Amino acid sequence: MKNIKNAQWIKSPKVIDEASVEFFREFSINKPVKSAKLEATAYGVYNVWLNGEKLGDYIFAPGWTAYQRRLQVETYDVTPLLNNNNTIIIGVGPGWKGLTYFNSSKLQTKYLGTAETAVIASIEIEYEDGTTDLIYTDESWMSRKGKTVYSHLYNGYTYDPSFVDTKPMSSAEIPMNNDNLIDRDGEKITEQEHLPVKEIIITPKGETVLDFGQNMTGYVQFKIKGNKGEKATIYHAEVLDADGNFYRDNYRSAKAEANFICDGEEHICKPDYNFFGFRYVKLENFSDEIKKENFTAIVVHSQMKRTGHFECSDARINQLFSNIIWGQKGNFLDVPTDCPQRDERLGWTGDAQVFVKTASYNYDVEKFFTKWLADLRADQTPWGAVPHVIPNVFSPDDECSAAWADAATICPWQMYLTYGNKEIIRDSLKSMADYLEYIDYHTWDDLWARGHHFGDWLNLDGSSPEDCSHGTDKDLIATAYFIYSSSIYIKACELCSEDADDIPAKREKAINAFRNKFMKDGRIAPEYATQTACVLACHFGISDNIAKTAKQLNELVTACGHLKTGFVGTPYLLHALSDNGYTKTAYDILFREEYPGWLFSVKMGATTIWEHWDSMREDGTMWSTSMNSFNHYAYGSVADWLYGDAAGIKIDESKPAFEHIIFAPLTDDRLDYVKASIESRFGTVKSEWKRENGNISYFFSVPENCTATVILDGKETQVSAGEHRFQ
Ligand code: BGC
Repeated sequence: MKNIKNAQWIKSPKVIDEASVEFFREFSINKPVKSAKLEATAYGVYNVWLNGEKLGDYIFAPGWTAYQRRLQVETYDVTPLLNNNNTIIIGVGPGWKGLTYFNSSKLQTKYLGTAETAVIASIEIEYEDGTTDLIYTDESWMSRKGKTVYSHLYNGYTYDPSFVDTKPMSSAEIPMNNDNLIDRDGEKITEQEHLPVKEIIITPKGETVLDFGQNMTGYVQFKIKGNKGEKATIYHAEVLDADGNFYRDNYRSAKAEANFICDGEEHICKPDYNFFGFRYVKLENFSDEIKKENFTAIVVHSQMKRTGHFECSDARINQLFSNIIWGQKGNFLDVPTDCPQRDERLGWTGDAQVFVKTASYNYDVEKFFTKWLADLRADQTPWGAVPHVIPNVFSPDDECSAAWADAATICPWQMYLTYGNKEIIRDSLKSMADYLEYIDYHTWDDLWARGHHFGDWLNLDGSSPEDCSHGTDKDLIATAYFIYSSSIYIKACELCSEDADDIPAKREKAINAFRNKFMKDGRIAPEYATQTACVLACHFGISDNIAKTAKQLNELVTACGHLKTGFVGTPYLLHALSDNGYTKTAYDILFREEYPGWLFSVKMGATTIWEHWDSMREDGTMWSTSMNSFNHYAYGSVADWLYGDAAGIKIDESKPAFEHIIFAPLTDDRLDYVKASIESRFGTVKSEWKRENGNISYFFSVPENCTATVILDGKETQVSAGEHRFQ
């Protein structure tokens, strides 16, 4: 970024709400050009057309950040596109800036000085004779309403090819401080895959529905002619209802529509400023013959390199793994979101925190999380509170919820473990310390016993299915997370040769308080005994008798025959069991096809991870319309157990990034083979085991410059780089 800070922010002088605005100007060149660069960003999401050609493959630029402190600028090389006479158009749609969730737009207006979409750009043209021209956005740029005559993140868009704003006006300058402009530090969002229509369905209600066979995030590109003036609509949905009709009540207020106003000419259309979460689309007012080849679903997400693979002899587990991968694709659009379809699509910290380990094995997300964590730090309050969603679109003085706010410690630590990134730990150390200080202020008798918490969100211990946050005691969860986050902070301080001050002592006190209040004789006390309580006490090393607490967990699971955990307990449930000798129970939970369990949704035909264990019931009816996403990655965190335990690839914290690997696969009679690989910073780590004639053989591959410990039947063998086989 070089010149943009000298440009002016401009907006349309007319209020053009919920539609695209185009800012444009012409300029001439009369000598040979050596190079030309455009720097641009917007308040909203933008596209640039230079002489009719759209620049680059970056969609939904400038992405979504804590705008008031960090707004990403993109630099485009425009040298090959320049002519003697040039026209530049920057189209801006509301995008995330238009979020009406709670009072976000008001808040952001306050921070950024404008409620409307706005743009800032500079063009630097270097001539072969050594001279330079600079063009900046200012009031000489014209502005007009674009052909996307309606655009709203949740509701969708209307494109009218016939629309022409006959009264373009000079743009209005907005006096704004440009200190928040930064070079893009995240990944670009780009179009990633094209999916054809799998089936055209006429539903019992007579609706024309296209099934793309996969729940995803993106948009439909369609060929259309239609009759002049006719409005054709594409509605989006994730599932069909029990009768096989189109169902979208779970989108709540998000209309999620793509509208096209026909002009009688043939067009190929896709949105410039909108995306949707969907598998099915319903067509309305399409007067052309409906042909599969006229519709393609384009999958969009942040550019991330796929690094992790898992396969086993059970097709259901493979489908589960595929659903997890698709959950990540669908929810990694610049920000790790809870879901991509309904009127939410927010960067919920808790969801990101439970999934980060899996995410970092599946894909290279180092850059993605580095950027998001910078937003987390930017939005953290001066008193250390970590907002529930990042970027924060809620009130800035929200209280912290345990397990959500802990994204501030858990996510950077995972970046260190998976990628060996120490810098992110250094960058996050103050944020971690501030957060722990915030908790300390909220402790009572050494327990984190105040404030609003989401609890073991969506667990099955509450008094009714609607009671999402009760079940496991919230003070127990909060104190357990304080202990866990403190452990991370202490390790982070050691790594950076910093003093952890009084945190080790406070952690010890919290451990004692936890044991005194919530435990009895090495077990969780009867009045607090839930699966999640046992899981946390074991997995975070809080219990004074982990063997006994794990036994209690095993009893609780086997007594009811299934898991009852929500967002807090589920990610560690299988680990807490298999780490303590209950591998069979862990596999029993994994293989369960009935509700509640991972394979229930697979049996029901899911292609992504559901928000609830029974988002759809056996009979095809729905859990509820109020909060029911079919693309919610949180429970996909089970993939870290598939990589780490079923396949047995574990990171050694003392030599992260797989420099020293621990291979400790846990086999089960119900599987004939498992194979997994993770492309690490050192090379590809592989683990495979297979059963032949009753015997199990193992294969491990250790990248160059790495070492590994193989643990089989309790016996440890040290191995160096290369391929290793064991019987
Ligand atoms: C979101 C969750 C989130 C939760 C907070 C929901 O509406 O979809 O995934 O973590 O709120 O409890």
